[in-house]
Order: sequence, then structure tokens, then C-alpha cells
Amino acid sequence: MEHVRLNNGVEIPQLGLGTARVEDEEIRRIVREALEVGYRMVDTAAKYENEVGVGQGIADSGLDRDDVFVTTKLRGADQGSDSAEQALTDSLRRLGLDHVDLYLVHWPLPQQDRYLESWQALQELTAKGLTRAIGVSNFLPEHLDRLAAETSTVPAVNQIECHPRFPQVAQRDDDARRGIVTQSWSPLANGGDLLGHDVVTRIAAEHDVTPAQVVLRWHVQQGLVTIPKASSRERLVANLDVFGFVLTDADLAAMTALDTGERTDPRQDPATWEEF
Ligand SMILES: NC(=O)c1ccc[n+]([C@@H]2O[C@H](COP(=O)([O-])OP(=O)(O)OC[C@H]3O[C@@H](n4cnc5c(N)ncnc54)[C@H](OP(=O)(O)O)[C@@H]3O)[C@@H](O)[C@H]2O)c1
Repeated sequence: MEHVRLNNGVEIPQLGLGTARVEDEEIRRIVREALEVGYRMVDTAAKYENEVGVGQGIADSGLDRDDVFVTTKLRGADQGSDSAEQALTDSLRRLGLDHVDLYLVHWPLPQQDRYLESWQALQELTAKGLTRAIGVSNFLPEHLDRLAAETSTVPAVNQIECHPRFPQVAQRDDDARRGIVTQSWSPLANGGDLLGHDVVTRIAAEHDVTPAQVVLRWHVQQGLVTIPKASSRERLVANLDVFGFVLTDADLAAMTALDTGERTDPRQDPATWEEF
């Protein structure tokens, strides 16, 4: 497993497990199996309402706490200067942990205009030992500009939708320029038509790997940190096995050219999307 160094010196594994849209009992099994087969990073969120199951899966694995990198997120309903610390404390109780490794503002929700005060509150949480790093998710350059103008802490991570169908080259360049690591959500484009696309299946055949492995290699070879979700042990194992082959520059470019210019769900434009 390769690691990436965040802007505060904390190291994050480059590939971890996504957990969205899976309930407690099922995610408990998936997290335990993922950790058994070698995953060392798990991404959850208060919004997913499965932090209890994620925490149980981590406990079931028997691994030392320090060997697992855990991310959770501040949901929209809990944004604000007074509520952010309580929200993380509640997440930690559900997870059964005394700290997480990364805490993200889940969406900017600019119409609510509370992401700046939320970020100011998050800055305190690292000093209190409740999280080792803080970051954001779904932030556009205009939101990052505002944090830069009004606060002193640069987010360690910006977790955004990113895959060959929506490669987000400009946003990734903008993140990098600021010293922010981009983390790809829905890295497999949510298992949709991308995995059957001619370009992906051709490159997979040339490297004698699966389409999902080619897509995940596209992420890690470009320095992205990524969090594919999978249910079976077989897929968990295969998705982690992407550090033993190298795509050519032409392969990477051909996949990036699959850009549709559209989010998987066009409603999820961070300038307007609201979820709580
Ligand atoms: N910050 C945010 O706003 C945000 C938004 C969305 C997601 N996320 C995070 O990102 C994680 C990943 O995104 P995602 O879950 O939306 O989508 P994803 O990881 O791109 O795709 C997951 C889908 O791909 C399938 N799949 C997994 N491995 C496969 C393989 N080897 N071959 C074929 N199909 C495969 C899975 O099926 P099975 O499960 O049946 O194996 C599942 O249906 C989430 O779980 C969540 O942690 C964050």
C-alpha cells in the first residue's frame, strides 16, 4: 500500500474502503473483511448512519487503532460554530473511538452560509485531539478561496466526485496548487457503464487485469487518494490489488478523455446541492 503525506504531515493510505448506502449490519461484515484482506483506511459519514457498524467492523478486526485510518464527516444539519464539536463527539461515540484520523465538512451548502464558521470550529478539533487532520468535501475553488481569505488552516483533503467519466482535472489542479490532497469519491463511477466501456476493457485486457483495477490504477497512479466501495471479499481483494502494474501515459490519457463533463447525478453541483 502506498501512502500520501497530507499538508500537516499525517500519512494517509492511498486506497481505502467506501461505505455509503450500506446499513450497520452489512457494513460491519464488509469493514471486518476489508481489514482482514489488507485495507487500512475506511471512509464513513454521519450522514450514512452506519458509523456504529463501521466501528464494530473495526473492533471485530482486532487491529490496533493506530493501524486503521478512519474518516468521517460533518453533516449539513450539524454545520455551525456551536454544533461541530458535538457532532464529532457523537460520531466518535457511535464509532467507539476516541479520535478519527480525518474529519471533513461533507458539503459546503453555500445557501446556508455556515461552512466558514464550521471550518473555524474544525480547526479547534485537531488541537483537542479529536481528529488528526481536517478537510473538506465537494468544495469548489470559490469556497476554498473564502477559507483561505478568512482562516489560517488549509484543508488537508478535498474529497470530490472523480473518475474517468468526470475527471475534474481543473479542480484537482486547483487543490494541488493550494497544497490540498484530492480524494476521489465514486472512483468506479458507482459501478456504472464505465467498467464496460471499450476503452477500459481494452486497456484491462492489455494489462491482464480487470476493468475496475484499471480504473482504480488510473486514480492511484495520478496521486489521488481513493475509496472504492465493494461488498464481496473477492471484489475487496481485487480492488486493493492495483499497485503491481503501471498504465502508460497513453492509457491514462485515453481514460481521462472519457470525460462526459457531467456529474453522475447532475443535481449534485456543490454550488447548489443541499443535503442535511
Ligand atoms: N463526500 C461525498 O459527498 C461522497 C459522495 C459519494 C460517495 N462518497 C464515498 O465514496 C465511496 C465510494 O463511492 P460509491 O460507493 O458512490 O461508488 P464506487 O465506489 O465508485 O462504486 C461502488 C459500486 O461499484 C461496484 N463495484 C465495486 N467493485 C467492483 C468491481 N471490482 N467490479 C465491478 N463492480 C464493482 C459496487 O458493487 P458491490 O457493492 O455490489 O460490490 C458498487 O455498486 C462511498 O462509499 C463513500 O464512502 C462520498
